[in-house]
Amino acid sequence: MNTKLDIMSEAEQFIIECYRELEKTEEETTARLLQVKSRFEQNSTIDLTSEELEHGAKMAWRNSNKCIGRLFWNTLRVADARHLETADEIRDALFSHIEFATNGGRIRPFITIFKPEQDGQAPVRIWNHQLLRYAGYETDSGIVGDPGSVAFTKECLALGWKGQGTAYDLLPLVIQVGGELPVWYEIPDEIVMQVPITHPEYPQLEKLDARWYAVPIISDMKLEIGGITFPAAPFNGWYMGTEIGARNLADENRYNMLPKVAELLGLDTSTQATLWKDRALVELNRAVLHSFKTAGASIVDHHTAAQQFKRFEHNESTAGREVTGDWTWLIPPMSPATTHIFHNQYKNKIVKPNYFYQEKAY
Ligand code: ARG
Repeated sequence: MNTKLDIMSEAEQFIIECYRELEKTEEETTARLLQVKSRFEQNSTIDLTSEELEHGAKMAWRNSNKCIGRLFWNTLRVADARHLETADEIRDALFSHIEFATNGGRIRPFITIFKPEQDGQAPVRIWNHQLLRYAGYETDSGIVGDPGSVAFTKECLALGWKGQGTAYDLLPLVIQVGGELPVWYEIPDEIVMQVPITHPEYPQLEKLDARWYAVPIISDMKLEIGGITFPAAPFNGWYMGTEIGARNLADENRYNMLPKVAELLGLDTSTQATLWKDRALVELNRAVLHSFKTAGASIVDHHTAAQQFKRFEHNESTAGREVTGDWTWLIPPMSPATTHIFHNQYKNKIVKPNYFYQEKAY
């Protein structure tokens, strides 16, 4: 927990930076600093204006060291949902988030920001890791679905939710208000865009029966702006193909599809040295990019994303800001050395505003 002194000095620093970037006048900045200070002395709270909240959320994206997609930080759309109180209201805002972000496939980077922490207490927590995610069930014949979701799926079942038991059951939203028991809500199918995975040349890959949802909406991180913490602030961009094709569907501890892909493609798997895993990986990733394109859902390949990141680095240096980054995350999980990122070094320094991991709510 931040001390009062931290909060005030972080708030001041944020206002100064934010107002400089928004090209506010000296007078406006000074007046706002005085106002923030006197309100904080009166009632120990800082209320950001909607404009400050919006720009702060954008800065937080710009400062996200692990993200290769930061070129678009200034296009983030922000919903100010700080006034919402009940689980039903929050559910409706989350449904709206899914619809606005999906936008029929032309995905819009978007964040919905709920009430900030007060005296170290979170007024709202979303238990889901992402708003859209597939369940994972432990069964006698192994895990069905996404092994990465097993722990959260157990929580949902314990709360009384029942899944169909397929490999791609959408988990419910689980919302907790203050210290109350969490409430779960099924997400209506109509608002969830999902993409069946097919290959442009190898129709047999349909037999994988693989699919993925179109929009990755991270919902378990906290947003910090000017010393204020927002424990519920789900945000999304669009996917880079490798996130699905080289990780979610490929990792051995996720959907583990490379052996099946190799078999369907008739690859020689008798020894590792045939590079069957690498060959299967490339085709699975081509399939992901092809399928999203066919479905009309935004997606970016890792080569294009790296070029965009290069433009971001250029823009930032023009703006007189240093680009911080986490190299281990910025390099794509396929053919990393074909991108300039691999051959660069990045300082993994934490600058705020930013998004942070927080303790699980369950
Ligand atoms: N890697 C995560 C996933 O596969 C999503 C993380 C956020 N990704 C993004 N493109 N904004 O679901």
